[in-house]
Amino acid sequence: MTSCPAPQRKRAREAALARAVEDGLLGPGSPLVGLLDVDGVLAAVDALNEAFEGPATVHHTFAAKACGLVPVLRLLAEAGMGCEVASPGELEQALAAGFSHDRLVFDSPAKTVEELEFALEHGIAINLDNFQELERVDRLLAGREPAGPIGLRVNPQVGAGAIGAMSTATATSKFGVALRDPGAVDAVIEAFTTRPWLNRLHAHVGSQGCPLPLIAQGVGAAYELAERINTLLGQARITGLDIGGGLPVNFDSEDDRPTYTDYVAELRTVAPGLFDGRYTLVTEFGRSLLAKSGTIGSVVEYTKSAGGRRIAVTHAGAQVATRTVFMPDAWPLRVGVFDAAGRPKEGPLQVVDIAGPCCFAGDLTASARELPVVEPGDVVALYDTGAYYFSSHFSYNSLPRPAVYGYRTDFAGQVRLAMVREAQSVREVVEESGLSHADALVALCARGPERTPKKEVAG
Ligand SMILES: Cc1ncc(COP(=O)(O)O)c(C=O)c1O
Repeated sequence: MTSCPAPQRKRAREAALARAVEDGLLGPGSPLVGLLDVDGVLAAVDALNEAFEGPATVHHTFAAKACGLVPVLRLLAEAGMGCEVASPGELEQALAAGFSHDRLVFDSPAKTVEELEFALEHGIAINLDNFQELERVDRLLAGREPAGPIGLRVNPQVGAGAIGAMSTATATSKFGVALRDPGAVDAVIEAFTTRPWLNRLHAHVGSQGCPLPLIAQGVGAAYELAERINTLLGQARITGLDIGGGLPVNFDSEDDRPTYTDYVAELRTVAPGLFDGRYTLVTEFGRSLLAKSGTIGSVVEYTKSAGGRRIAVTHAGAQVATRTVFMPDAWPLRVGVFDAAGRPKEGPLQVVDIAGPCCFAGDLTASARELPVVEPGDVVALYDTGAYYFSSHFSYNSLPRPAVYGYRTDFAGQVRLAMVREAQSVREVVEESGLSHADALVALCARGPERTPKKEVAG
């Protein structure tokens, strides 16, 4: 992305952190916060639109899983995006944010009858995952025309990227119709031949870790198949190609690398016809739109040393940076150190582990990093956390979800903040832990049945 120039983004982030500290949103009484650079998000949307500009009509949707916070979704809706949803919760978040039904795409490999009925009734575009789901939709439609586009997800089986768990186009991936399996292409052709309402193909090759040529190869396979089906049917039956998301994000520097322009160039090489206007294109980017605009700020509670290693204990751990903590090599984050007033720290460097509050030894967001000396009361910032960190909370140790604020800075460096999500209170944590059923198990025991008697031991 050429989205937000790196120095400008850095300046805005530092100003926002300092302001959050000054306003008490990040400090002793509020040790963990998420911050989102609103201009950075909008710049990423602009970069996306510019890169795909051309004769083809393109519907860009935002993958809600990357950040399902309603104000963020509304910002993106206002910026002209659609929304890709993959669960009833994401669907409701998108509707609450103001997306009209025709700007939604409903994915998910496990859609229930009820969810499919809702999508069909409201003309929401659906990507079906498999042949059983196709047959389910046959029954639900019972000869009626669907109001919205319906696509079939295919797995081009082009292989894995660097992170196996994020690679959706492996030979055995759970997603879509595995195209290279024997008979699969014929079965897909048959599906389109017998269903006049089926009019899209969808492929999402993977997220983070998939190199651009691999993603383009997967999209190219879907394009080739669409061409083949349309030729066989003698009509432009497939009118839309949903090419998913998956543009990787550079987590090791401030740069936006690769860019949407790089990706489009790769796609044009592999499938030039993709952009000539015969197909409506749908995209579903998540991480690349938000990651660089997010920061998690945490107060350093204590510092200590063990076995010769310095450790800074913060409030940001597995509950907010789940993937980073459990798969540190796949999801490393850049870390910044600020003093208690929120000013960037300089001076001598020290090798340190940045630990979270969770009760397991591996709860580290960074290991053996050379950073300015960290002291209690300082602020540690985890950069590039705008996607998949704010809204993918892990409830370990019953740690509450932190507040999230959006920020904008003006030319003079003045920061304006807006609350996006309130911090979850400890009371709310207790309430969602079954508080209203507190007596349930004790009452069950009081009412019987009696425990089954132990078996008599023979002899
Ligand atoms: C079907 C689908 N579309 C889009 C995305 C978004 O991917 P990314 O955030 O890497 O752009 C995902 C991520 O898992 C996905 O599964």
